[in-house]
Amino acid sequence: MSITDEQRENIQSGRTSPQSEFDLGASFPPDFLWGAATAAYQIEGAVQEDGRGKSIWDYFSALPGKTYRGETGEVAADHYHRMQEDVALMAQMGLKSYRFSIAWPRIQPTGTGSVNTAGLDFYDRLVDTLLAHDITPLATLYHWDLPLPLHERGGWTNRDTASAFADYAEIAARHLGDRVEHWLTHNEPWCTAFLGYGIGIHAPGIQDTQAAVNVAHHVMVSHGLALPRIRACTKPTTQLGIAINLYPVYGVDDHPDTLHAVKMMNDFKNGWFLDPIFKGQYPERLFENFQVSPPPILPGDMELISSPIDFLGINYYTRTLVRSYASGAPGCISDLQEVTSVPDSLYTAMNWEIYPQGLEDILRWVHTEYAPPAIMVTENGAAFDDQWNPDDKHIHDAQRVAYLREHIRAIERASISGAPMRGYFAWSLLDNYEWAEGYSKRFGLVYVDYPTQQRIVKDSGNWYAKFIQKQASRTNPTQE
Ligand code: GCO
Repeated sequence: MSITDEQRENIQSGRTSPQSEFDLGASFPPDFLWGAATAAYQIEGAVQEDGRGKSIWDYFSALPGKTYRGETGEVAADHYHRMQEDVALMAQMGLKSYRFSIAWPRIQPTGTGSVNTAGLDFYDRLVDTLLAHDITPLATLYHWDLPLPLHERGGWTNRDTASAFADYAEIAARHLGDRVEHWLTHNEPWCTAFLGYGIGIHAPGIQDTQAAVNVAHHVMVSHGLALPRIRACTKPTTQLGIAINLYPVYGVDDHPDTLHAVKMMNDFKNGWFLDPIFKGQYPERLFENFQVSPPPILPGDMELISSPIDFLGINYYTRTLVRSYASGAPGCISDLQEVTSVPDSLYTAMNWEIYPQGLEDILRWVHTEYAPPAIMVTENGAAFDDQWNPDDKHIHDAQRVAYLREHIRAIERASISGAPMRGYFAWSLLDNYEWAEGYSKRFGLVYVDYPTQQRIVKDSGNWYAKFIQKQASRTNPTQE
């Protein structure tokens, strides 16, 4: 039973409650990309193999006290050596697409100049294996692993890094562009800038708000510089985008001070990047609210940053709930207060509130406010304390099954309401290195027993596989 016209009308008019039951998945287009996502430093390991250079995460994770128990991505899920097995697992699960990131330090060990052919060879093998299993590759060019020599010359605070990124992007696209037709320039520039340079909990570990604002600008300039370089050496049908982490922002009440705080938080968490990309300008008062100077914007930068993209990647995990203020409206972004514990809400192992409605809300808001030509949810998932008993071939992660189901339902409601949804990538295919949290947090559809590197598909991975199979059967009944 698919959704009825009446239900569709109710949803589009907002009359129907969010919990309305309909045949989950019935409304997605047949070519919708159902996939899973990973990132190079989080799964590959082999950090000193085949000519790979050091990244800022190799440097940062080795610093005392920066990561959980000092854990690094040195081995991770050993994907560099187990790629064939992992792609076979994707095929067994029936994934239609796989989002991975290319490690810049494997391609250019110093970040500029000479190309490491052994690094290109690995991604050749990965892409060819994916295609051999009829899995569409989606490549992220930058998922936080900046080559260390570039950091030693200022990293993203140095505008030259933006040019170096465009050179790297062209090298990767020229080599893989005959087979990879979906590219993301950056993953979560907000994290690159604010976590890496603003509060320093991510590599390179700098705590300087002005630096974060300047870095965000240079990262977005690098996005704009890379787009034409990639287009020039890929097929006309190639789809280019960027993955932005977004948080729908809500207030605890309608007090004017709360609404002011909501606006400020929304600019900080969402508008900082969406406005430049789609409106060619930063949110008004953003830099005053940071209490820093504007970044070094050169003539033409905002036009560059707002170069057209073919799809917007949205990474969604949870919402942001802002409390009001006892002492009047907030003076600056650092005054903002998030509500971190909502009565009756469920939370993941990352202490992130489980809030599927937020995904529908942010998709509908982005569609209405920014009108991207297409949207893919390039990350969505949850960490839970998965337990594996070697005597049991199953890992019962019912919370993750519910999380996936309800967030897919949210996407479908947004799609029915008009949002141009084209893909969904569960975060993550495998349990992996969760940055400063080390291996303490498990996001995978597939459990990784790190001592043995054994992979065990969790109940959520099996649920997702069955869901994808059901989707395929809608367009090709013989596949049921
Ligand atoms: C991010 C990154 C991923 C994380 C995931 C869970 O969105 O922060 O893209 O690398 O591992 O989101 O935190």
